[in-house]
Amino acid sequence: MSASNSSENPITPEAVDEAVTAALAAIAEAPDAAALKRVRSEHIGEGSTLAQLNSFMRHVPKEQKKEAGKLVGSARGRVNQAFAAREEALAAAEEAARIEAEAVDVTAAARRERNGARHPLTMLRDRVSDIFTGIGWDIVDGPELESEWYNFDSLNFDADHPARAMQDTFFVEPVERHMLLRTHTSPVQMRALLERGVPLYVLSPGRTFRTDELDATHTPVFMQFEGLAIDRDLTMAHLRGTLEHFAKSMFGEDAKIRLRNNYFPFTEPSAEMDIWHPLAKGGPRWIEWGGCGMVHPNVLRAAGVDPEEYQGFAFGMGIERTLMFRNDLTDMHDIVEGDIRFSEQFGMVI
Ligand code: DAH
Repeated sequence: MSASNSSENPITPEAVDEAVTAALAAIAEAPDAAALKRVRSEHIGEGSTLAQLNSFMRHVPKEQKKEAGKLVGSARGRVNQAFAAREEALAAAEEAARIEAEAVDVTAAARRERNGARHPLTMLRDRVSDIFTGIGWDIVDGPELESEWYNFDSLNFDADHPARAMQDTFFVEPVERHMLLRTHTSPVQMRALLERGVPLYVLSPGRTFRTDELDATHTPVFMQFEGLAIDRDLTMAHLRGTLEHFAKSMFGEDAKIRLRNNYFPFTEPSAEMDIWHPLAKGGPRWIEWGGCGMVHPNVLRAAGVDPEEYQGFAFGMGIERTLMFRNDLTDMHDIVEGDIRFSEQFGMVI
């Protein structure tokens, strides 16, 4: 580009205006910071019309320099100002959008994480265990896969006792091995007697099995707790007193118990135990709770204990059944199905 005279001076108000108008329009239209950056190199940076006009300044004849300088200077000033303003506005908009995206709505409903809940059967088992450890008893355990001898023979069941029949008991193959899924927690009586000897005060909660169909009140897999006390001079009065304490601990001071004559092979005398449930739904009433009695001399003998020297009592109840009448549950399905919403209703305290 040569500028030997003023007629060739490209720094005219029109040319400058045109460049400024184009730059301002591009700046105004830039939608974001990246686009604005491109506008800068196109309209302000090296090679832009304004930069070219500026670099032409040195060829402008002296007498026009002042005028041309003013034109270019103010043009660049306006464009730079517009650029800075747009840059600031875009940055502010982007910041606002980021804050908006990261915003936490403190009024929104909390999303609850499901951490699981203890099953009410487990809680009830623990509560019963606590009551008995509270009076000095030990908690003992036995296997769920049990021998027929512990489950029946040692407990004085006749060889042809109906409870042994296939329709009640899950026998485990090969049947010649005489193994079964224990039908009650009473075999733990014999195991505890043989392992620990006398005197003995133990409670054994655990899972038991019978060939029942699952319905509103039955389940083939259920839980019981078994109590056994063996000592010198224990009588039915001790049994009564222990059960009375247990009943009040579970159902309140107004609870009481009643024993009705019954038969179990491993106790003599044997009794059915009812509880007076003062808070029962529909009003206070007697509810059948479990079996109990004085340990049969044959059971003590099978454990090598002299029945003349030691006596004792035993009792056994179902945990599902206890949970049902204690918490007004009517359907066993709710207890066994494992829907966490069922367990959650009980919270951590039962
Ligand atoms: N084992 C019995 C049952 O499952 C319950 C039972 C009755 C347990 C009397 C006992 C007892 O300890 O003395 O039906």
